[in-house]
Amino acid sequence: MSLFDKFEKNAALYNQLSEAGQNPFTVVMEKVLGPTRAIIKGRETVLAGTHNYLGQTFEPNAIAAAKEALDKEGTGTTGSRFANGTFSGHKMLERDLADYLGMTHCVVFSTGYTANLGAIAGLINPADDVVLIDADCHACIYDGCALSGAETIRFRHNDPESLDKRLARLDPKVKGKLVCIEGMYSMFGDIAPVQEFVEVAHRHGAYLLVDEAHSFGVYGETGKGVSEAEGAMRGIDFYTGTFSKALAAIGGFVASNHPELEYLRFSSRPYQFTASPSPATIASASAALANIKAHPELRDKLWANARRLHAAFTQLGLNIAAPPAPVISVLLPNRELAFAAWNFLLENGVYVNMAIPPGTPGKESLLRLAVSSAHTNEDIDRLVAAYTAMADAFEGARVTASAERVASIQSKS
Ligand SMILES: Cc1ncc(COP(=O)(O)O)c(C=O)c1O
Repeated sequence: MSLFDKFEKNAALYNQLSEAGQNPFTVVMEKVLGPTRAIIKGRETVLAGTHNYLGQTFEPNAIAAAKEALDKEGTGTTGSRFANGTFSGHKMLERDLADYLGMTHCVVFSTGYTANLGAIAGLINPADDVVLIDADCHACIYDGCALSGAETIRFRHNDPESLDKRLARLDPKVKGKLVCIEGMYSMFGDIAPVQEFVEVAHRHGAYLLVDEAHSFGVYGETGKGVSEAEGAMRGIDFYTGTFSKALAAIGGFVASNHPELEYLRFSSRPYQFTASPSPATIASASAALANIKAHPELRDKLWANARRLHAAFTQLGLNIAAPPAPVISVLLPNRELAFAAWNFLLENGVYVNMAIPPGTPGKESLLRLAVSSAHTNEDIDRLVAAYTAMADAFEGARVTASAERVASIQSKS
């Protein structure tokens, strides 16, 4: 019996992937050429598996702000937000985010992961409270529940009725109830009926947390996410987000109209016990936030690109998991085909994400593409050409074992 026995199953899969071609978990960006191009394996590649939704990674004002912060405040804060790691930039960004979202309070964390972890575990009292989560929630929401130590109940994905039933069945002795959903789900690109969830949660006296990691800056008339697009901003109790996608940096936040959010700073271990984002990171995220507020045309371009790709893939007969969205996932019948197709695309100068069971909702195998406003027409042409060649090269690429699953996801989007 060895400590490492538990690695055996994953190691076997990992080795199988490495033997059959490029291993998706070891891709190296040898040289980054811009927001949508890099050299991978010596080849210039179109990047369509990043979350650079608004193409902010090389914005001159964000880079200049980061350089200035480096010069003035140094490379790191060397402490947590709770101790010496709160600089004026952290406070200013909290204010800007709260104002942008129309909320009164905001707490910045070191990553999007710790923001969810810290919000859930910090809010919940395991003795009296329960957390109810959408079955397809991201790992950080599951981990936040585990860290909270509270009873965690899953409801069916994007199904307010399923939540309703579970809330109705709760022991009346339960005190606090926290419901967690996401805006846009990152694996399939499907979106939540947020307003329906607001109504169900509040009817049962529960609080609603919406993780808009993938939809912040991307959905809604002014980019506030799926909650804005669904007219549900006022009903949300806690809004979580990340700096690592539309804001093209690293960090995360929780915003709320509940003044008690401030107490999270004293009760959240993922806030208290990790170093705060560096001054340069905060400066670039702040500049990116200003950019996305000032340039709604970035969102228009993103959506034009997403619609064009979605239409082209539909015409190719591929099985797309959801209606047009900045994440476009093509479902494949099994992981062998997903792996071969992913390698084929990479060989053809296109980088997307491969996702395979057990880590995927419904144990699906898929090729997942994240669109950027920075994708040029030429990038989109190259993506369409590569997917066309892939669909022609692999007979099974147009066939899915999951027609039922596609129909069920689409009917809820
Ligand atoms: C839905 C969701 N929430 C939170 C996170 C964590 O964000 P970060 O990578 O910025 O820590 C992710 C990461 O991809 C995510 O997909």
